[in-house]
Amino acid sequence: MENGNPRRRPRKKNLKSVIDSLMGEEHEQSDTVPDLAPLKESDDIKSEFQGNEETQRIEAHSSEKDKEQDNYANETSEDIVVPTTGQSIDDLGNFSKNNGGEVEHAEGSLSLTLKVWRQDGPEERGRFETYQVENISEDMSFLEMFDVLNENLINDGEEPVEIASDCREGICGTCGCMINGQAHGPEKATATCQLHMRKFSDGDTIIVEPWQAASFPIIKDLVVDRSPLDRIIEVGGYITVPTGSAPDANLIPVPKDAADTAFDAAACIGCGACVAACPNSAAQLFTSAKVQHLNLLPQGQPERWSRTEGMVETMEEYFGSCTNHGECHEACPKEIPLDFIAYTNRDYIKSKRKNRKLLGQIS
Ligand code: SF4
Ligand code: FES
Repeated sequence: MENGNPRRRPRKKNLKSVIDSLMGEEHEQSDTVPDLAPLKESDDIKSEFQGNEETQRIEAHSSEKDKEQDNYANETSEDIVVPTTGQSIDDLGNFSKNNGGEVEHAEGSLSLTLKVWRQDGPEERGRFETYQVENISEDMSFLEMFDVLNENLINDGEEPVEIASDCREGICGTCGCMINGQAHGPEKATATCQLHMRKFSDGDTIIVEPWQAASFPIIKDLVVDRSPLDRIIEVGGYITVPTGSAPDANLIPVPKDAADTAFDAAACIGCGACVAACPNSAAQLFTSAKVQHLNLLPQGQPERWSRTEGMVETMEEYFGSCTNHGECHEACPKEIPLDFIAYTNRDYIKSKRKNRKLLGQIS
């Protein structure tokens, strides 16, 4: 197999060139930039979300998920086996690599075959390695199952699989990988670290690969370089505020609905699953979440147009843009709505004119 994963998709560029051609000289002189509808009031946004079929489906899914979590909390308070002092992680799960050995299984435990992408470095040749893991508790998280695999690899004198994680609470966005071809695995709205092994069946084969996008080069095994997402943030993912003593909390009142909608956008954890799931490897959902969580707030208005133009064009430089497949929303562990992409496209077209106006290039 060639270096890297042959299925990694190339970048696609289109939005900027389309807008640039729209903003050409002829267009500028005739001054026929489409007069876009003003940004909706927060009430309109909210009612649009409530009436939206997708939103209703998400709400139904969330209440189902809440019930599932309640049941789980009740069941697990009695059933979970917590390792006591002196017990190692081996006591909860055993591992053997291609050894075909006899393993005794605890009740409710899983025996799994893992096909894991191993790659020693960015320039090295990658390959799949097959491992057998035994006695994996259904209550373990996916990363805890990898802890078992790695502890046993270390015990066998082999190199553990590099897989990134930090918070293990679905907050930091570092843990993403492709699990059986799906970004973050089979459970909707769930980051890899919060995926539980009860989603799999005894005897399953699980294929684990790094994010597949040319913009995310592989560092090692399942760890990719997601720093192109940081380049987008650097361009405008901030607001200008005076430093010094803490300002009065009510200095700039924010309407509740605007705050709620901005918070939906701010839920993005920067994991990159949207890029990995997109057939174009576009970063449109990430960028629009980061643009809109500031553009929707009063505090975000001073840099609104420069932020939008800068962040969208940096996105174009590293990732390219979208063709409305919607895979990003399906893969997103925070269920960032696609509406933010529409708001950002609208702001981007407006920003091209407004920023030139601010520079005195057009009246
Ligand atoms: S938009 Fe969703 S999938 Fe994309 S980086 Fe943010 S949290 Fe991850
Ligand atoms: S480890 Fe932080 S989101 Fe998964």
